Amino acid sequence: MIKVSNLSVVFGAGTPLEKRALNGVDLTLEAGEFVSVIGSNGAGKSTLLGAIAGDVLATEGRIEIDGRDVTRQPTARRAALVARVFQDPLAGSCGQLTIEENLAIAAARGTRRGLGLAIGKRRTMLHERVEALGLGLESRLTDKMALLSGGQRQALALVMATLAKSSVLLLDEHTAALDPGMAEFVIHLTDRFVRDFRLTTLMVTHSMRQALDTGTRTVMLHEGRIVLDVSGATRSGMGVEDLVTMFRRKRGKAIDDDELLTS
Ligand SMILES: Nc1ncnc2c1ncn2[C@@H]1O[C@H](COP(=O)(O)OP(=O)(O)O)[C@@H](O)[C@H]1O
Ligand SMILES: [Mg+2]
Repeated sequence: MIKVSNLSVVFGAGTPLEKRALNGVDLTLEAGEFVSVIGSNGAGKSTLLGAIAGDVLATEGRIEIDGRDVTRQPTARRAALVARVFQDPLAGSCGQLTIEENLAIAAARGTRRGLGLAIGKRRTMLHERVEALGLGLESRLTDKMALLSGGQRQALALVMATLAKSSVLLLDEHTAALDPGMAEFVIHLTDRFVRDFRLTTLMVTHSMRQALDTGTRTVMLHEGRIVLDVSGATRSGMGVEDLVTMFRRKRGKAIDDDELLTS
């Protein structure tokens, strides 16, 4: 569960470059809820994920994860609760370590076990989890991560997220750097893992199609505020054109509270 209340983030406060990236955001996700997040460049999407993960400090407001107030907790203290996958496939794993070493590090997070021991004890489990991807990577567990394609690395980054037993999954355009086929594979995998492991998930995407087709709720950010929050029948009745129209309307025009569309 994620509960963000009245969250504001101001970068460079008091300087000529002051920027209010988030402006009073309220957003609650129930445990296991899967929400897609859209919004134009600079809308505050990555800042929102960064604030939940702890990389970005809240200027005002409060963030709770699974009922715990984490607002002032540094990233490392929240790491056991929050897993992340970024746009850059190179960002989520270490290229110079092998597949099984990367997975073992994720699985051993929060324990004091040495890496060798961690792999030995978990080898069968890691093999099964990689085999279940259906990518044939189980025969390459001792290959360096750097040898893999972007899509293979993103798929393994998702496996790592589930091994770490986090309850929250934050995805920041995690399929944007992949070719269409691999992007679709990674999205299906994401959907499966979110359900199987009941992960409370925020997925930033630049694809309106993906935003409407994935998860059960879609949120649009604009200039640091939530301007659309749809689920259920309202969302299933929406097409990509509706979202595009909203985008166009928001751009170049200040937002009037009356036109906020929520359901
Ligand atoms: N570390 C930072 N320092 C200063 N400004 C930042 C920083 N990170 C983001 N911003 C600014 O905050 C706004 C929101 O950025 P971001 O959350 O990255 O947008 P999005 O992910 O929706 O494209 C942008 O105007 C961006 O330039
Ligand atoms: Mg971003």
